[in-house]
Amino acid sequence: RQEQKLAGKKVLVTAGGTMERIDPVRYITNDSSGKMGFAIAEAARLMGADVTIVAGRTSVQPPGGVKVVRVESAQQMLEAVQARYGDSDIVIKAAAVADYRPVHVHSRKMKKSDDKLVLELEKTADILATLGAAKQGQFLVGFAAETDQVEQYAMDKLNRKHCDLIVANDVSADGAGFNVDTNVVQVYGPEGLVEALPLMSKRETAVRLLAIIAARMERRHSG
Ligand code: PMT
Repeated sequence: RQEQKLAGKKVLVTAGGTMERIDPVRYITNDSSGKMGFAIAEAARLMGADVTIVAGRTSVQPPGGVKVVRVESAQQMLEAVQARYGDSDIVIKAAAVADYRPVHVHSRKMKKSDDKLVLELEKTADILATLGAAKQGQFLVGFAAETDQVEQYAMDKLNRKHCDLIVANDVSADGAGFNVDTNVVQVYGPEGLVEALPLMSKRETAVRLLAIIAARMERRHSG
């Protein structure tokens, strides 16, 4: 039994990948399985938190004992998260959100015609940045999936998006990132590197991350 360090706290976790529709049967998505976000949700529940998951497309089952809100697109994820933001103490954004979506969503299945097809894409809303700009005391944790210059990009995201922590994920490292049961992450705070976690299960990664969050929240309240 874990220590109930998050008892009474409302934790909102995003998990999985968004799906951006092209037509009724086709969409753009990514390899996120939901494993990382679900592991965080489960670990938070075991620490006594009241947990809600906003989940996109996932390939594993969510944990029991938590609320699950299903969404498809980045826009729907934004709306679902915004609706619950004011009532959340901790928000952890482990989802892999599409950066671009098709400009036109065809209402009927697209027909084959020319040899080449160009899909026009437009930027999606940046959910993490939107939350960062609207912060009212929430503890905001972002992820950063990078393949190079991990520290520089992580610190840049932390500052630009007003996060309290950034979990940097070198998704090119063995046993790390999308769709595997393990991860290798470095946790950054406003002061720089907080902890570099070695290769471990996503469950264990989640427990270690939540321990850092709980300690910082405790310090915030006592200081
Ligand atoms: O689900 P799994 O298979 O277990 O894989 C886990 C994971 C690799 C998906 C996860 O550990 C991870 O790294 N998630 C973040 C992936 C990502 O989209 O990273 P990014 O660097 O593109 O985005 C940075 C942050 O901004 C993320 O917190 C993301 O949720 C957020 N974002 C991104 C784009 C956007 N339009 N809105 C956002 O809020």
